[in-house]
Amino acid sequence: MSRNYKNKILVIFAHPALEKSRINVELCRAIKNLDGITFRDLYEIYPDFLIDVKEEQRLLLDHDIIVLQHPFYWYSCPAIIKEWIDLVLQYGFAYGHEGTALAGKHMMSAISVGASEDAYTENGVHYYHVREFLRPFERTAALCNMNYIPPFVVHHTSDLVTVEDISVFSDLYKKVLISLRDKDIDIKAMNEFKYINDYMLDQYESWSV
Ligand SMILES: Cc1cc2nc3c(=O)[nH]c(=O)nc-3n(C[C@H](O)[C@H](O)[C@H](O)COP(=O)(O)O)c2cc1C
Repeated sequence: MSRNYKNKILVIFAHPALEKSRINVELCRAIKNLDGITFRDLYEIYPDFLIDVKEEQRLLLDHDIIVLQHPFYWYSCPAIIKEWIDLVLQYGFAYGHEGTALAGKHMMSAISVGASEDAYTENGVHYYHVREFLRPFERTAALCNMNYIPPFVVHHTSDLVTVEDISVFSDLYKKVLISLRDKDIDIKAMNEFKYINDYMLDQYESWSV
């Protein structure tokens, strides 16, 4: 029997070398077959980078929450995610006077980051916090009149050695998506947290996921 979920989730995923991935491959495994979630691997679907803009826009219209999942590369995303943003979030569709197709929807980044959170501080090698580097995504959502949900972030990936280390995050990612799918989103409460990871841990006791 099909269920009516509160929110339909579209995961736009990209990893240019998935065969070498340790983290994203597990994050994907945990969520790609969940009911109410549409999973799209851009490098698999568009190996030649020829993105079907109309199809991607149709999918956007049909979902409530858009998740951009990828490894953090050069303080940003792999190239095909940028290509997808450039081509799919068209003027007159996503932004501009008559571009209201995405208004009221939500966007979230789900990223794996090589360095620790400490490295992303004023005293650390990367100086700025990850949230600062994600500003272009946050403002892209804002320009499309979407709400940017605090990102799901896996830090210090080289420190995650065993299957168990990684499954802590793939399990949490699964809980995040199920919670976003099934519950009303308390935007105000969430926006007080830098990462949705922290919000989940804060709420965990009261969330039966
Ligand atoms: C081309 C490239 C660029 C990267 N840029 C960054 C970066 O800017 N900041 C960072 O903390 N880690 C960076 N890393 C490390 C990756 O984020 C990390 O290896 C990845 O998230 C691990 O996930 P995976 O096992 O799914 O590949 C980079 C790695 C590569 C290959």
